[in-house]
Amino acid sequence: MQNIIEPFRIKSVEPIKMSTRKNREFYLQAAHYNPFLLPARDVIIDLLTDSGTGAMSSEQWAGIMRGDESYAGSISFQRFEKSIQNIMGFKYVIPTHQGRAAERILFSIMCKKGQVVPSNTHFDTTRANIEFQGTEARDLRIPEAMDPELLHPFKGNMDLDKLQQTIDSVGKENIPLIMVTITNNSGGGQPVSMANIRGISEIARAHGIPFYVDACRFAENAYFIKLREEGYARKSVKSIVKELFSYTDGCTMSAKKDGIANIGGFLCSNDEQLADKEKDLLILTEGFPTYGGLAGRDLEAIAIGLNEAIEEDYLRYRIRSTQYLGDNIASAGVPIMQPPGGHAIYIDARSFLPHIPPHQYPGWSLACELYVEAGIRSVEVGAVMFGIHDPESGKDVTLPELDLVRLAIPRRTYTQSHIDYVIEAIINVYRRREKIKGLKITRQTQYLRHFTAHFKKL
Ligand code: F0G
Repeated sequence: MQNIIEPFRIKSVEPIKMSTRKNREFYLQAAHYNPFLLPARDVIIDLLTDSGTGAMSSEQWAGIMRGDESYAGSISFQRFEKSIQNIMGFKYVIPTHQGRAAERILFSIMCKKGQVVPSNTHFDTTRANIEFQGTEARDLRIPEAMDPELLHPFKGNMDLDKLQQTIDSVGKENIPLIMVTITNNSGGGQPVSMANIRGISEIARAHGIPFYVDACRFAENAYFIKLREEGYARKSVKSIVKELFSYTDGCTMSAKKDGIANIGGFLCSNDEQLADKEKDLLILTEGFPTYGGLAGRDLEAIAIGLNEAIEEDYLRYRIRSTQYLGDNIASAGVPIMQPPGGHAIYIDARSFLPHIPPHQYPGWSLACELYVEAGIRSVEVGAVMFGIHDPESGKDVTLPELDLVRLAIPRRTYTQSHIDYVIEAIINVYRRREKIKGLKITRQTQYLRHFTAHFKKL
């Protein structure tokens, strides 16, 4: 059969409130043209994030009922720990309430002021947590990643020459760890190859620098390796995942992605002394090491979700359905980051709206238009998210190279007809693109301004 169907049946449904264009113009204005500030009930298709928004399976809901809520030594923690050790192969597993809590604990222990943490691309919370320690978060992606239209199987790869140059110029003692984000979320949801992981690992080990993975979408990355990298077509996703983590020293994880849970995360390592220090910090702000800020039922949902995320029928549908959205809008002329990523499609907003200059936020304007057109919520990954402004004047001093709009697909949540509706809406907006105007920021915070900024239409 050619058709790839959703490999599940629907057991429980959640109604969507429909709205008119007029309603949505009003809602968006009330939200100061910031889609983050829209009430979710006024959104028809929510592609803001794939984080914590997936649908849990009947097995996961059964696990929720089994959750052991004991303060210490919960059996749910044992299942959680075993499932992670089994899939990823790390010795020490520390539960956290989500990915950024794992990041904060790791970086507070490992990073010092003036040091540098290289990555392919740091995600925004990762970057902010590193910078909060006075450490520099440095992105070293391959040059191919900068060209949105270029086809490359592993556009998430790190530039190994630049990594070596960074170590030579700042000195290995000033690099507390090297990170790699799989798949590379801020770089277009693009995968990292096993060869690249092995290469980073060799460099890291040669200099005695710990190598960590930001593992949020590890299962999707592993499936891309199976599809695209020589020598992996016949290997199971499970064995690819095991091999990948065997080259590393630890990971941070948001279980809200490939854990298919609504909340949760963890921090892993093979270093007992480090894990002890991490647990001390964990107790201060998250909780006792057998729950780390989560309920026992959350630990169960994650333990089961991680295993479901590496099932190959699921991954085949997951990767194919994201590609379906990308291929359909691209064939209508919409410029997207090619090839389609694992969890999301990224529209290249600077090419979509060439008449809007970067300092008038073409990505943000496009996200607003998609909402008004069809109630679709997406997220800008560009000048607003990554631009750096002078706190005195409020003027942007540096803007990123790309302005992307991310359409992130929650796991197992929307059907193909929902996606067909999204495709129609994007094509409609594309046809009237010349009429779309830019925006101006009227209020912003110093860090992570995109969450709360207010805008005015120009
Ligand atoms: N790392 C990556 C690559 C992420 O995508 C995220 C979250 C995090 C770390 C932090 O995890 O949210 O559990 O604290 N990304 C979400 C997104 C928010 O929409 O892409 P968290």
